[in-house]
Amino acid sequence: MKDGVKDIGFSVPYDIAVARTLRQTSRQEREAALEQACYNTELIPQELVYVDLQTDSAVSALSASQVAAMIAGGSPEAATEMAPEGHGGMDALSSRFREVFGFPFVLPCTQGRAAERIWMKLNVREGTVVPGNMLFPSTRYHIESNRAKVVDVIADKAYDLFSDEPFKGNLDVRKLENVVKEQGAEKVSCIYVELCVNSCGGHPVSLANLRQVRSLADAHKIPLFLDACRILENSYFIQQREPGYHDRSIREIVHETCSLADGLTMSALKDFLVPIGGFIGTRDQKSYQKASFQQFLDGGQPPAVALASLALSLGEIFSSPTYVRSRVAQVDYLWQRLGETVPVLRPAAGHGVFIDAKSFLPEMPPEHHPAEALAAFIYAISGVRATKGPPLTQSQRQRGVDLVRLAVPARRYLQGHMDDAAQAVSYAFAHRREIRGLEQVEKPGRSKYDPPLFAPIER
Ligand code: F0G
Repeated sequence: MKDGVKDIGFSVPYDIAVARTLRQTSRQEREAALEQACYNTELIPQELVYVDLQTDSAVSALSASQVAAMIAGGSPEAATEMAPEGHGGMDALSSRFREVFGFPFVLPCTQGRAAERIWMKLNVREGTVVPGNMLFPSTRYHIESNRAKVVDVIADKAYDLFSDEPFKGNLDVRKLENVVKEQGAEKVSCIYVELCVNSCGGHPVSLANLRQVRSLADAHKIPLFLDACRILENSYFIQQREPGYHDRSIREIVHETCSLADGLTMSALKDFLVPIGGFIGTRDQKSYQKASFQQFLDGGQPPAVALASLALSLGEIFSSPTYVRSRVAQVDYLWQRLGETVPVLRPAAGHGVFIDAKSFLPEMPPEHHPAEALAAFIYAISGVRATKGPPLTQSQRQRGVDLVRLAVPARRYLQGHMDDAAQAVSYAFAHRREIRGLEQVEKPGRSKYDPPLFAPIER
């Protein structure tokens, strides 16, 4: 502060060092691309997309020091060699991880799902259940592939798309208690808590809720694990929304969150600004040793260059509070712009804006695939790619939930891109009667796991 002039805050803690040209396609080109992609925006080639809001995973911009480490910082071997225990890169990353998250044992992995695969194999027993809060499909898959059942114990507020409840990712402790009572504690392999729950709209979990879950887990001696890939945003929302945390730093909240868990699996591709990387964190040396051996058998060690990049980003992210704030502020900006007219899920999330396709297109029957039809229309008019986001849980499908997700990659787009995306979605809303429904089409040789294909329904 000088001469009575108030300090102006820093809203964006980086500038752009390397730019990539975005192709400006014509409407005709986009119509052709849509037809070619059978109206599934997931299948549009990247070079024909203007603002890509398909995912926030593995698509954030690297920092100059991360790029330098990849190009010039290491020896040529560093790009390809593994990083076994005792390797300098592994030690640097492990100590940084321990410092930030507080788990004494850490196993770097290639992705979140690679961490889940190992962790579930070691911690999920056949014939048991795993209560969780609308877990991500890969987490559910790895639990189920060990012949256990996922039981959704997210609080009912998660299904209320438009209320302003601040922590819609919270677990319903009574539901959780009932599962433990009905099954018996020995039949519950672990409790899994996803932070900033992706499937229900990116809603956070409060520390008060996590503390309640912790004491229930303690009372019944059940391990409590986190899916912590969006822990930064979750911590930001705790700081902003949970009483008593306004003056606590993101780093302190991250630490406190982790202190309530026995272990975590984490994809680093979202909050931690790398295209490859993930973690298993644990307090139990034996589990760590088993996980490490399992990874050795599976062949899933990340290369040394990925560890170096991850260690750098952990350092950069926690060196100032501005990074997380600016990340969430950009998503909030898009949410605010759309919220005035478009039915977006409330309150704002940290990694994307979710549209309720049912309210957007109330007259379109579900069998005409409103979410996919809306995403295709948005792409046709603007080149902005939105998609349905993560596959819905069974409980969401039963309730007829149908969402379009505008996932915002961290540190990649400018306000102008957000303005263009907002304009495209608002235009689509104003012209929603022009949006044609889609019907699913089958093509020989495709499996049920392949993205679905569509054709427009003729009117
Ligand atoms: N957990 C959550 C909550 C996720 O959102 C994801 C991935 C994973 C685990 C798996 O991590 O991709 O590193 O293996 N989400 C991406 C998305 C794909 O677009 O939301 P991964």
